[in-house]
Amino acid sequence: MASVDQTIQLIRRTGRDATGQQAAACSPALAKAPWEFDGVLQYGPGSSMGDVIPVGSPRQGAIPAEYQRASTEELHERIRAAKQTLGDRVVILGHFYQRDEIVQHADFLGDSFQLANAAQTVPNAEAIVFCGVHFMAETADILAKPEQAVILPNLAAGCSMADMADIDSVEECWAQLEALYGTEPDADGRVPVIPVTYMNSSAALKGFCGRHGGIVCTSSNAETVLEWAFERGRRVLFFPDQHLGRNTAKKMGVPLERMPMWNPRKPLGGSSGDELLDARVILWHGFCSVHKRFSVEQIEQARAEHPGVRVIVHPECPMPVVDAADEAGSTDYIRKAVAAATEPTTFAIGTEINMVNRLAAEFPQHTIFCLDPVVCPCSTMYRIHPGYLAWVLEGLVAREVLNRIEVPETVAEDARVALERMLDAKPKA
Ligand code: 13P
Ligand code: SF4
Repeated sequence: MASVDQTIQLIRRTGRDATGQQAAACSPALAKAPWEFDGVLQYGPGSSMGDVIPVGSPRQGAIPAEYQRASTEELHERIRAAKQTLGDRVVILGHFYQRDEIVQHADFLGDSFQLANAAQTVPNAEAIVFCGVHFMAETADILAKPEQAVILPNLAAGCSMADMADIDSVEECWAQLEALYGTEPDADGRVPVIPVTYMNSSAALKGFCGRHGGIVCTSSNAETVLEWAFERGRRVLFFPDQHLGRNTAKKMGVPLERMPMWNPRKPLGGSSGDELLDARVILWHGFCSVHKRFSVEQIEQARAEHPGVRVIVHPECPMPVVDAADEAGSTDYIRKAVAAATEPTTFAIGTEINMVNRLAAEFPQHTIFCLDPVVCPCSTMYRIHPGYLAWVLEGLVAREVLNRIEVPETVAEDARVALERMLDAKPKA
């Protein structure tokens, strides 16, 4: 099966995909190499190109021309040779959303939670090359040994959702909530509000949660983490993803009217004091531009064209999409659901296209397609190209650590507390 990159190149040349069908990509610029955008202050072509990138976001400097000029085959050859020379000195982690041209070189492939754990299971590797996005590399650095270097091959691989909550806005929100709620626990010992941050957030926000009695969650444990928080607090401040927060709390029985949104540009987040006093979950105004593309209309079309189709979406999708799907779950949930199907099944999946296409190639007994007919990868994940991987690996061969991600220990200490609370939180028996 053609990779997403090969499909995008084909669409650019012929307007068709590898099956000969008319096909569209969300941006013609996707066909260019990421270094053509690295100096530009934007997320790059793909699903989050319309989002506003914060001032001061890391930029990738130019990589040597030899990596830009090399053919894909040459790059693969150089990556393989560097890996062989480095042996156990290096481990390559790859997120499910990475392009196939990267995944084929990964030692571990997984979701953000599994990769954070994987970073702890290779204490002898001098370097962890993280093929994913910035917050994932930060988490690996927090959990890895201090002498291990975590490397992000392209520094411009951020996450537009993670960037929607910054530490200054969250501190400001917290000050307003404390002024409204006070800080005293109730008769049951529950504090007025507990901060919960999605893994897709900066280390500074994880540190904020560690300092304020809060916790981290991922899409695979959000319900367990909210239960943990409700045992300790009367309310939760959930950031940055409103959709994961809303979908999870709704499933747990929290009424929508008790989930006001916090818009950091408005006083009291845009809600009244009474609404905030009545709140159970305060949802930060953040979202994922990849998952925002999925719609109820796409699900209706899939059901009309494929009677009996099983629709599974990621909980970062808007609530109406999650409600219209048959199931919702993390990337790992989606993978396991497909792998566990014993009868040939048609799956329509609402998550990033690289992962969906890889599932389709891996499980040919099933019919698997992405709900979104337009080929539109996560623009920041897509910035990790074999040219950058070859560059950082050959750097390690020459004993040079390029693109190291280092979280200052003052931040990491508190962030580790919030991450460890998550690792210790257990689902209710
Ligand atoms: P996972 O936690 O499922 O790996 O998802 C990360 C992500 O960025 C989803 O958009
Ligand atoms: Fe961020 Fe969405 Fe990309 Fe995940 S898919 S890394 S949440 S922009």
